[in-house]
Amino acid sequence: MAFVVTENCIKCKFTDCVDVCPVDCFHSGPNFMVIDPTECIDCTLCEPECPAHAIFAEDELPAGQEHFAQLNAELSLLWPTVTTVSPALADADEWNGKPNKLELLER
Ligand code: SF4
Ligand code: F3S
Repeated sequence: MAFVVTENCIKCKFTDCVDVCPVDCFHSGPNFMVIDPTECIDCTLCEPECPAHAIFAEDELPAGQEHFAQLNAELSLLWPTVTTVSPALADADEWNGKPNKLELLER
């Protein structure tokens, strides 16, 4: 099992999650963050840190977000590892909680 970043991270990317991960398994894209499922040790530390409540255990993904497990696995192979916190994206607070952000994902 692994933890998974879901849709509400898109266009927010607060990055608080990165600061607590003991095994550096976060990978950052232009407007979304993903977790490498082969590196995640299920420590649970990142889940409560996300201001967007976008991180879930793979077996607790909300209805309709199940496909994000595959998306995290796929994009973690393409995007670089990040280990330091950086400023949230512009207008992150406005985008926090907006529906249907998957179509805005930049690769
Ligand atoms: Fe990293 Fe732990 Fe979160 Fe997995 S659960 S991504 S190991 S902080
Ligand atoms: Fe995204 Fe939340 Fe991390 S918004 S970058 S999963 S703190």
